[in-house]
Amino acid sequence: DNQVPFYGQHQAGIITPAQNFICFAAFDVTASGSSSLQKLFRTWTAAAAAMAEGKQVGEESTNHNLPPVDTGESVGLNPSRLTITFGAGPSLFDDRFGLSGKRPPSFKDLPAFNGEQLEPQWCGGDIGVQVCADDMQVAFHAVRNLARMARGTAVLRWVQEGFQRSTQADPSGSTPRNLLGFKDGTANPAVTSAQDMNKVVWAQGSDGAAWMGGGSYMAVRRIRMRIEVWDRSSLKDQEDTFGRYRGSGAPLGAKNEFDAVDLNAKDEKGNPHIPADSHVALAKGDGSIQILRRSYSYSGGMDLKTGQLDAGLLFISYQRDLFKQFVTMQQKLAKSDRLNEYTLHVGSAVFACFPGVSNGGYIGDTLF
Ligand code: HEM
Repeated sequence: DNQVPFYGQHQAGIITPAQNFICFAAFDVTASGSSSLQKLFRTWTAAAAAMAEGKQVGEESTNHNLPPVDTGESVGLNPSRLTITFGAGPSLFDDRFGLSGKRPPSFKDLPAFNGEQLEPQWCGGDIGVQVCADDMQVAFHAVRNLARMARGTAVLRWVQEGFQRSTQADPSGSTPRNLLGFKDGTANPAVTSAQDMNKVVWAQGSDGAAWMGGGSYMAVRRIRMRIEVWDRSSLKDQEDTFGRYRGSGAPLGAKNEFDAVDLNAKDEKGNPHIPADSHVALAKGDGSIQILRRSYSYSGGMDLKTGQLDAGLLFISYQRDLFKQFVTMQQKLAKSDRLNEYTLHVGSAVFACFPGVSNGGYIGDTLF
């Protein structure tokens, strides 16, 4: 059970329960022509399927005068539930590859959001590759070898590693905490419900781009946390910021982590338990818009300008429609969320993640 199948109706790594680590890579394609892109996708497919089974990316040759086919650092390691999820950025749908007519109508770069300070080195990409595994070395090995195979066709644009608490540290598998100390991922839609997933996560062929049926749109935001400011704020402020208790993760006014978020519940003075400008109140709204969150904490060492830790959340969400779901929600949050005092969005990208690949096919094959 340390293997997640690569082939299937949907790509792995979307509704797959989150692994312990992520290595996210965005690429730009340097070659042009649809055949070079298809060739890259074919090569990546074979390698990704092999790595998901814990194999090396190709047969080693016995010729001692050639570099080894695989870089070798995952030799002897089990697949660690490795998943590799591929998506196309809006910039891929252009004349370089004859794809300008294939861009789904609702798939384009995100609008600017209030308060963000995007840094180009953390933004965009022709192709996004989300690699997750229960072992960091296994995840890194995958990104490294995909980048190596892409040589001459595509180059890395940005890479961000991330982590959650490991299974070893929490065998019970309870909701992980983010770097602000709160349980993060509690109110996610149920991935076991095909009906919910079809509504919230999977693009339908009838949505406007037949080739995306069974795929999903991914939003990635590199969100820096102002942890020094957070660490000086009171527990009450922290809990009012999210609308949940830090210890249990329960909604304010409720008892248990998975109790319903009731925005109308009032305390004895008649004030709402959950402040209207709290993160949870704004993100939930009337409950009609949902997304599937699959985020990881990141630490980028130290910010040389301020001498403070460069740490935060590599926010990742999957949705059937980027604008109806993620953008609507983020516009509201960017305007009024109490959490904004403690966070800064510095990176951003969106990818149309392909439908699942059937054995014999290759990633993105429905596009061509
Ligand atoms: C809920 C943290 C950014 C959407 C939560 C919760 C926490 C949290 C602790 C409550 C527990 C849970 O249900 O998971 C954070 C942090 C962020 C961040 C630290 C940034 C650093 C975002 C962004 C979005 C978002 C950018 C979407 C645009 C949601 C949603 C919920 C939620 C939909 C569930 C609301 C509900 O239905 O109860 N977040 N979040 N979050 N967050 Fe965030």
